[in-house]
Amino acid sequence: LRHLLTLEGLPRAALVALLDRAQAFLDGHGAADPRMALAGTAVCTLFFEPSTRTRLSFQRAAQRLGADVLGFDASTSSTSKGETALDTLRNIEAMGVRGFVVRHREDGAAAMLAACAAHDTAVVNAGDGRSAHPTQGLLDVLTLRQAKGADFSRLKVAIVGDIRHSRVARSELHALRTLGIGEVRACGPTGLLPDDATLDGCIVGSDLDAALDGVDAVFMLRLQRERMVEGLVSSLEDYHRDYGLTAVRLRRAAPDAVVLHPGPMNRGVEISDEVADGPQSLVLRQVANGVVVRMAVLETLLA
Ligand code: CP
Repeated sequence: LRHLLTLEGLPRAALVALLDRAQAFLDGHGAADPRMALAGTAVCTLFFEPSTRTRLSFQRAAQRLGADVLGFDASTSSTSKGETALDTLRNIEAMGVRGFVVRHREDGAAAMLAACAAHDTAVVNAGDGRSAHPTQGLLDVLTLRQAKGADFSRLKVAIVGDIRHSRVARSELHALRTLGIGEVRACGPTGLLPDDATLDGCIVGSDLDAALDGVDAVFMLRLQRERMVEGLVSSLEDYHRDYGLTAVRLRRAAPDAVVLHPGPMNRGVEISDEVADGPQSLVLRQVANGVVVRMAVLETLLA
């Protein structure tokens, strides 16, 4: 791997190797001294959109591997003077930075930067438009694997909510398919379901109670109001009534079902407090896994 831009087409062996490496870091036998893996290497988190989890966990991951970490925040940078993303990357490359973790609102932005980068630069897509968020997909399937075991062919999962605008859902689907998931149910209001090939092979519907029936895991999605045109959702109260995951609704899933959400959560909209903070929620486990997954990715690309 030179860059990680999407999980689509990533061979199963490469995907499993990243998960195994992340698990090894988590279990404390990832490397004799992981702090040496990227000593002398500089990594920049190049974020043109807001982030808490992804940006900070990449920074934490790079630090744990011994890298020098530079944080770039578009709102306080020369982006506000009109500098392009490509000029920004080239200028930071000129400072000796080799790893770039890129978030951008435009689909394909990370791939464009990767195509134009120097031959020894590695680019990780930390979320571009609606297209892909590959490390989120990886950490989500690692979390599912820890909870349910490695044989995904036995599992039924539901992906619920604003799938149309979700790069997370696309990367989750890529990873779940590669790992041979048994059944994926995709559920959301018609206006928030994609009208392209994203959901090929899924059982698609708008009845949440039916989608939850007997599933082993529920992947909730954030309602992405910042990417939404007016009128797709009538009101947040209606959305919560029809698509909010409450404790009562969750009882339709298997008794040992687990709940994932990539964050940030709209509490009281797509998920209730009692589910978000309840015993079946793996939300903070996902965040912890994010650090080790990102360590595995950075090490694979840069070490
Ligand atoms: N899950 C996720 O991408 O969260 P952030 O936007 O906070 O990085």
